[in-house]
Amino acid sequence: MRIILDTDPGVDDALAIMYLAAQEDAEIVAVGSVHGNVPSPLAAQNALRVIELVGIDAPVAVGAARPLAQPLQTAEFVHGADGLGGRAGAAPRGKPVSESAAEQLVRLARAEPGELTLLALGPLTNIALAVLLEPDLPKLLRSVVVMGGAVSAPGNITPYADANFFHDPEAADLVLGAGFGDLTLVGLDATEQARAGDEWLTAVRTLPGARAEFANGLLEHYAGFYSQMFGTRGCTLHDPLAAAIMLDPKLATYRELSLAVELTGTHTRGQVLSDQRPIASDAYITSTAGAGRVPVRVAETVDVPRFLEQMYEALKVS
Ligand code: BDR
Ligand code: CA
Repeated sequence: MRIILDTDPGVDDALAIMYLAAQEDAEIVAVGSVHGNVPSPLAAQNALRVIELVGIDAPVAVGAARPLAQPLQTAEFVHGADGLGGRAGAAPRGKPVSESAAEQLVRLARAEPGELTLLALGPLTNIALAVLLEPDLPKLLRSVVVMGGAVSAPGNITPYADANFFHDPEAADLVLGAGFGDLTLVGLDATEQARAGDEWLTAVRTLPGARAEFANGLLEHYAGFYSQMFGTRGCTLHDPLAAAIMLDPKLATYRELSLAVELTGTHTRGQVLSDQRPIASDAYITSTAGAGRVPVRVAETVDVPRFLEQMYEALKVS
């Protein structure tokens, strides 16, 4: 699979890149950074750091510096001031390319129509900008996998929204309504199941090599944050699960839903909306969220043991 990665590293983004680097059937063709966990220029530096560590040779383009319609908000309280849990280390050797992440995405999709899969692990600002640049983008990409949203589950950054959609609700809504015919949404409904517990973390700690050492530093920081919330040692592997589902769709079960994102709610901005009524009647409402939109595949249940095994095997690669 030939992949364009859009990402905001971010501890779990970095772990997702490490996962992908270990998969023989995954080729990362290009990377775009986006604001989200950290500002976009730092996300690009971190993407370069991680791909250099794992030996991926791909251009990294700096993406959108801020959301479409709200001020920049970042999440260093989760990912650390450097975005990599204090483990960023030295500056990367490489430099970002001069085109923007949205321009890069459009150029590559036009050059290889129907060939490339997009994996979006951060706010969808770059993807929305790319759709505005090239309205035929949904026809040019082979498939899209998005980590974001919480369809039937509670949010994380707010009670109603996941961090990626909350960090740019307008972009998320634009992408969900753009007509991508093969879009899988790996939201909190699925990723909150992907919890690595004490036993798994302890097993990963025994792995040798520079990659495992880096991963263990990330996981130590990440588990420190999550353990405070859970009350037991562990962490939630959001972005690695989305990467794994992209390569192995049988890891999850799915439901097809047309989706929209709440843009004006006082408390609910960034929430994913869908009509999940068993019997729909529009007698009392004039518009239904998502009505008329191409349905997306929403990941629901996850084979967590299989995913954690795949992740463990990936971190074993030295
Ligand atoms: C998502 O938000 C970010 O903090 C993570 O990297 C992940 O992409 C989870 O809501
Ligand atoms: Ca992310």
